Amino acid sequence: MVRLEVEVGGLRLRNPVMLASGVVGVTGKLMMRAAEAGAGAVVTKSVGPERRAGYGNPTMVEVLPESYINCMGLPNPGIDEFTEEIRVAKRGGVPVIVSVFGGSPEEFAVVAEKAEDAGADAVELNVSCPHTEVGVLEREPRVVRQVVEAVKKRVGVPVFVKLSSNVTSIVEAGRAAEEAGADAVTAINTVRAMVIDVETCRPILSNRFGGLSGAAIKPIAVRCVYELYEALKIPVIGVGGIFSWADAVEHILAGASAIQVATALTKGFSVFKELVDGIRAYLERKGFKDIREVVGAAHV
Ligand SMILES: Cc1cc2nc3c(=O)[nH]c(=O)nc-3n(C[C@H](O)[C@H](O)[C@H](O)COP(=O)(O)O)c2cc1C
Repeated sequence: MVRLEVEVGGLRLRNPVMLASGVVGVTGKLMMRAAEAGAGAVVTKSVGPERRAGYGNPTMVEVLPESYINCMGLPNPGIDEFTEEIRVAKRGGVPVIVSVFGGSPEEFAVVAEKAEDAGADAVELNVSCPHTEVGVLEREPRVVRQVVEAVKKRVGVPVFVKLSSNVTSIVEAGRAAEEAGADAVTAINTVRAMVIDVETCRPILSNRFGGLSGAAIKPIAVRCVYELYEALKIPVIGVGGIFSWADAVEHILAGASAIQVATALTKGFSVFKELVDGIRAYLERKGFKDIREVVGAAHV
């Protein structure tokens, strides 16, 4: 039997396939469903200190096969109301990672502390949403450091930092996170993008700019995971364009200790089992006994 269990930044997962933040992590019940469908862990939709409406429609458009640009604008009910969803999600029996955002290091720390009190097994700091004012935080490694330090002072659970390719150097942002005590980095968030309608001569999305996700960003994500793996000591969680077991294995070979899926959920919850079974079959076929043998194997 092949071993699929992994340990990522202090969290033990029965398998490395996680639900990424944003698509179905809006309610506890949907996160339970992801766990029942085979996910090794679930990440909630990003939650901030207060209710936030997000942008008006249109907020999502398909631009290439299996590739979308969205500008949801981080809609969420605020952490106080969201704590109930965290409690429900816990019943799924897999680690629940609460994705947190805020306008300042203090706001991140307050939300993270409340998430931990509600039962979060880890927090993932979203410093990289490409279409909101709070997302630009990661452009300044100094600010990433301040956010991570503030959160680490307040919570005992592992702290992951979600990064994007929308910066000059993702490695610099990753180093800042690591130096401030982050337990893992997650890469990548959506890629800042836009789409213009040629008949109306106007941008299609209400916010003009959005974030590209899905198949189109996989090579960018794999490059980021590869660079981070080379530069950092803490684990890297890979996300971006994973639909099949081969996409997941590519991220793992680049250096991902675990992977996350977001856009592939548009095809249904069966994606978790398909990925887990496919990764297992690949490892068996190649004669590996433990998934950890292939993490970063593309580097040697
Ligand atoms: C509709 C939508 C909403 C998202 N919301 C969030 C979010 O709230 N927080 C976050 O960190 N990432 C969010 N993401 C980004 C995903 O977690 C992921 O990093 C990105 O989509 C790349 O993975 P994918 O190609 O599997 O979709 C969102 C993505 C989509 C498509």
